[in-house]
Amino acid sequence: MSTTARPAVQPVLGSPDALPRVDGDRLWRALMTLAQIGATPKGGVCRLALTALDGEARRLVMGWLREAGATIEIDAIGNIFATRAGRRDVPAIGIGSHIDTQPTGGRFDGNYGVLAGLELLRTLDTHQITTEHPITVAIWTNEEGSRFTPVMMGSGVYAGEFTLEHCLVQEDLEGIRVADALEDIDAAGTAVLPQLSAYFEPHIEQGPILEREGRTIGIVTGALGQRWFDARIIGQDAHAGPTPIEARRDALLAAARLVVQVRELALRFPDEARATVGQLLVSPNSRNVVPGQVRLSIDLRSATSQTLDAMVAALHRATSDIEATDGVSICLDEVVSFPPCRFDDALVASIAQATAQLGYPSRDIVSGAGHDAVHLASVCPSAMIFVPCENGISHNEIENAQPADLEAGANVLLHAVLAIDGRPSAALEHLPDPAQ
Ligand code: HGY
Ligand code: MN
Ligand code: MN
Repeated sequence: MSTTARPAVQPVLGSPDALPRVDGDRLWRALMTLAQIGATPKGGVCRLALTALDGEARRLVMGWLREAGATIEIDAIGNIFATRAGRRDVPAIGIGSHIDTQPTGGRFDGNYGVLAGLELLRTLDTHQITTEHPITVAIWTNEEGSRFTPVMMGSGVYAGEFTLEHCLVQEDLEGIRVADALEDIDAAGTAVLPQLSAYFEPHIEQGPILEREGRTIGIVTGALGQRWFDARIIGQDAHAGPTPIEARRDALLAAARLVVQVRELALRFPDEARATVGQLLVSPNSRNVVPGQVRLSIDLRSATSQTLDAMVAALHRATSDIEATDGVSICLDEVVSFPPCRFDDALVASIAQATAQLGYPSRDIVSGAGHDAVHLASVCPSAMIFVPCENGISHNEIENAQPADLEAGANVLLHAVLAIDGRPSAALEHLPDPAQ
């Protein structure tokens, strides 16, 4: 069970037996149907942000949300809010994630959080429960940051982390701008999305801890901070034959040294330091030309801002040393920067309480991945619910999760939302009275 001493919270209303449960089969069917859009031969999903496939998936999920009684609003960066009315005209309780994927992505990353929100609306409908707050299911644009940077773009615009103007002009590797991609799939709207009173994001852990420890629920207390850079290494194109080794200004050799240095950063620093080079583009990328230019991505993460700052300083020292040894110039352009985040105590406690009431084995956990909840946490109380994924593998076509775990996470979401909704017990009057 969770090991963190928590503040006292209002009890989850009604005994756990009286509270409704989600329909796990219906949730699984929705996940498998959505996974068909962009399905890959290895069983994964390739549905890059703002592609035609993303547009097709948006239309499918918006149709389901409308059928579940929600009205749809869309903002200028394509974020979708699907809201089911509550008794009171107050800011909604939000639930959400993303449906864009990595190029070799899986069926659950992001999609699970959105469809768990759909399943919550469907369950409220089935049980004819009217909540005090409106409930909004959010689909955030370009969470993955794979096709377009910055990562977590849509939620970042909503939270004021990025300006809309900055994001609309970002280009993918083909030179297509976000604004044009939005227009191509008719995904932009004109709504100014309203403030939320709270935000929950269910997600697979994308790491090995929950499965290894046999825990069904991860009570997410926070997430690592991130600093992303685009590095451009400029040397000189030269002939692979006549050019003497000592006369070369080889951008790829310099890049290779930098890749090794980036890994060293992760090994050298504490506080869950992570460092990754995921993208590397060589120019002119010809067998018999010494490469004159290399672009590569650098993704640094840590649980503390001090360590992140120290890693960035060490990165700059490493690039200066490589410039001197290899006769190249290296430009580092920072494209993402957000500090480690801590989620809201009351929401975290409501997740812990719901988990305990439902009897699921759980533990506190910090997210190594970034999520839209990280940006939402800067504008409203936010928290996340993790469920295990097989062998901790994600951002991989073999990503897998168990229906029972996905159902458990959606039940915790439902009970935590109802607790935060602060419903008088009478609101559950349609359900069998546990006292009888
Ligand atoms: O990069 C991340 O942590 C997330 O998958 N966007
Ligand atoms: Mn995700
Ligand atoms: Mn992801």
